[in-house]
Amino acid sequence: MPLYDGGRIDFHTHVLPCVDDGSQSVHESVQMVRTLAASGVTGIVLTPHFYPSIDSPEAFTARRTAALAKLKEALASADFAVPTLIPGAEIEYFEGVSVIMEHPELRIGRSGCVLLEMPMGRWSSYVVDDIVDLCASGYCRVILAHVERYLFDQTRSTVNALLENGVLMQSNASFFTDRRTSGKAIRALKKGLIHLLGTDAHNMTVRPPNLGEACSVIEERAGKEIAQEIMQGARYLLRADLAAGVPHGQTADL
Ligand SMILES: [Fe+2]
Repeated sequence: MPLYDGGRIDFHTHVLPCVDDGSQSVHESVQMVRTLAASGVTGIVLTPHFYPSIDSPEAFTARRTAALAKLKEALASADFAVPTLIPGAEIEYFEGVSVIMEHPELRIGRSGCVLLEMPMGRWSSYVVDDIVDLCASGYCRVILAHVERYLFDQTRSTVNALLENGVLMQSNASFFTDRRTSGKAIRALKKGLIHLLGTDAHNMTVRPPNLGEACSVIEERAGKEIAQEIMQGARYLLRADLAAGVPHGQTADL
């Protein structure tokens, strides 16, 4: 199994225990981290769901902090190299999303990135303008989560507007590993429509941490150079969190 210099990054996970519909125990979380580490992952972005309509940033952050402490305690005795754990959130899009600039705790580590879960179907011009406004604020770099679910429903002008404003697109690993969609995934990657990979792993069974499998598909069908580029981009965004001085298994201060 080829491992990249600097390792792979899983940019979207529900590895934290008992905070959302992801891992339901510390034991399961440790298994998920172990699986990712075995596939060459050196950085895991922890992105529990944040639903603004029913949650508050303060309550969310408290739950995330407590869950991370439990996971780190369990990983302290791990017999494998624990990837760097970087806290973030998968923020459900809402009208007026730019107000999240008031909550830096919802960003991914020190990267200045936010991961947004967009609505299904074609987006209105209001929604697109909302995202562009957030980009223009200079507050953060916007990443759209699992874009394979909705990017292909958008007009070309919407996609171009988002790309021109620096929006990054994250695809789930399953887009590449599923035989029904892998061809489409490779074409989208080669067209420059996918910039980051995440497993969106929720458990060890039906939504597993399958980054290694996705990387193998990309290597075989798009080439090692593209496979390396996508991970280099992820490491660059997270460079402050991955930098020396943040030991594996520790979390950068927010
Ligand atoms: Fe997710």
